[in-house]
Amino acid sequence: MEIFIDSSNRDEIGKWLKQGVVDGVTTNPSIMLKEGVRDIQAATVPICSLLGARPVSVEVTSNDHGEMLQQARTIATWASNIVVKIPIINQDGISSLGVVHTLAEEGIAVNATAILSFNQAILAVKAGATYASIFAGRVADEGNDPGIVIRNVRSWLDSWGFTTKIIVGSIRACMDVQSAALAGAHIITIPPQFLPKMVDHKYTRETVRQFNDDAAKASEESMKKMAVRV
Ligand code: E4P
Repeated sequence: MEIFIDSSNRDEIGKWLKQGVVDGVTTNPSIMLKEGVRDIQAATVPICSLLGARPVSVEVTSNDHGEMLQQARTIATWASNIVVKIPIINQDGISSLGVVHTLAEEGIAVNATAILSFNQAILAVKAGATYASIFAGRVADEGNDPGIVIRNVRSWLDSWGFTTKIIVGSIRACMDVQSAALAGAHIITIPPQFLPKMVDHKYTRETVRQFNDDAAKASEESMKKMAVRV
């Protein structure tokens, strides 16, 4: 399973990249707005270099399918590791599958995003998406179980041999990461604020403190023994 960072914050991405846990990055216009990005290209290109060959998802910003297509083609030229995010439908409920399909035919990697149901996911796969982003938190907002959606999509992909990867996003708590991983997500995209919480544990701290204290005691005793011999 892979872990992506759901952020456009270069410092956070770099910090976790150095720790060996980052396989890619996802962004969206809301994340960028919140993180102070006003020029998407200027913010994205350095992230793409930082990531090397790892994928960086960037979303189109239009509700019009023709414009989505044009934007996607431009965004794809920014770096070789760009993946273009296309919402599965536009805000009026009109299918974006044609955009996904055209881009896939042109060899542009597409992340079909804002997926909230099994049916949306399988259509994204059929249209040729490289990634299908299931928004776990938003599925749960509607009273549905994201684990069931993820598990069903994964099992359908595996049984028919499709290579599209499920990205689980919209992570709202550390527990969502565990649930998504066990439900069969290929990738979980995690907002950086959850990573320190995932790695920390108060009893681990106490355990390490005990080891450090005992190591200090042992070294103190050996110093004393050496002092007696001298
Ligand atoms: C994933 O690719 C999206 O960027 C993100 O996880 C959406 O999450 P939200 O529900 O917090 O907007």
